[in-house]
Amino acid sequence: PTIYEGCGRGESKVTDDLLGCDVINNLPCPPRKKVEVVNFADLPRPKNVRVRRPAHELTADEVARYKKALAKMKELSPSNPSSFAAQAAIHEAYCDGHYHIDPTEKNRKFDVHFSWIFAPWHRMYIYFYERMVNHYVDGKDAFALPYWSWDVPAGMAMPDMFKDATSPLYDQYRNPDHLDAVVDLDYHLGRKQLPPVTLEMKTSKPEFYEDAVDRNLGTMYHQMIRTGKGARCFLGDRFCTEANFNINEINKRSGRRLRKEVGELKGDASGSLERMAHTAVHVWAGRPGPPKDVKCTDPEAALGHDRELHCANDMGFLGSAARDPLFYSHHSNVDRLWHLWSTKLKGGKGFDEPEWLNTSFLFYDFVNDDDDTMRLVRVTVRDVLDTAKLGYTYSEPDKTTSGYKDWMDYKP
Ligand code: C2O
Repeated sequence: PTIYEGCGRGESKVTDDLLGCDVINNLPCPPRKKVEVVNFADLPRPKNVRVRRPAHELTADEVARYKKALAKMKELSPSNPSSFAAQAAIHEAYCDGHYHIDPTEKNRKFDVHFSWIFAPWHRMYIYFYERMVNHYVDGKDAFALPYWSWDVPAGMAMPDMFKDATSPLYDQYRNPDHLDAVVDLDYHLGRKQLPPVTLEMKTSKPEFYEDAVDRNLGTMYHQMIRTGKGARCFLGDRFCTEANFNINEINKRSGRRLRKEVGELKGDASGSLERMAHTAVHVWAGRPGPPKDVKCTDPEAALGHDRELHCANDMGFLGSAARDPLFYSHHSNVDRLWHLWSTKLKGGKGFDEPEWLNTSFLFYDFVNDDDDTMRLVRVTVRDVLDTAKLGYTYSEPDKTTSGYKDWMDYKP
């Protein structure tokens, strides 16, 4: 099980031995098999470095390779941890209240969002997803997860590779009004929405288009530099749950109001990396909804056909988000921004509290490239602070493209 140390109360356990199998609709969990568990820190360092590149700069060949591997993953039985369905279910399991911290502590729900767990957990998650794709892709270590660079002008729309309705990279539950629009990094529901700025306006109404781009760059500056000062502001605050909430204490500490969600208090201790463009892009990309009377965050109510009807707004709702292949490229960009923050912006390594560094999670991985045997790998936050140790890095988008502007220059 995942070991999680929370809020200075010592070790708590999240019961995730099956890693998402319980959330795949209509599928009973397979009998618990003994699988080997190894520590990531004990594994040999990767030999090759994968270079993650902007999705809009991928060659047709690279896109075709990813599509082919993903098609294979979509055909696998969901009981296979390397299937696309099982991979997507891991995300859902960690955010819909499926997993609980030690039951003796009133069965408190566990969530990888809204705290300092967010950045490292998602780094781990997409890392193992990338490993899965690599297992099925033609060629050894031939796949590096492309990132959706919504922070540079050339990337401020849904990348073309995800838009072909016949492709395994496609997802039907997206907002149809946003397929050919400029992304809005400050998008939130409940705000009065202006009609989207379409890509076509780049030529027909350049001032609208430029304005939308500039606003996004301003949001990026805000998230990365102005608000993102220090680890607590950028990565978020410690993970706490309602059982150990002292509301005044948390308010004092995080300076934020607590939100009421599904009748349950949840502390929103998210940092600017999570709270700002990341969340806006989720909501912007997903099919709008659900209607107010359906509680999609309640796992019971959200299962079955109701879920398809009301809650399938894939990117727009955390529970379903990872069913859209776009998710992994979205998070590849979030991860790149963390990487930039800690390397180029001198944000540093994050926190030195053991409570953060020693937090660990289990993920399925292949034992080697030659057969399908899997094992579980225990990864700690400490293990993932340097992407070189994970065998990947990012190459920055081409700055010589026409219309390139950098959010670093968008100081208000
Ligand atoms: Cu787990 Cu973008 O969310």
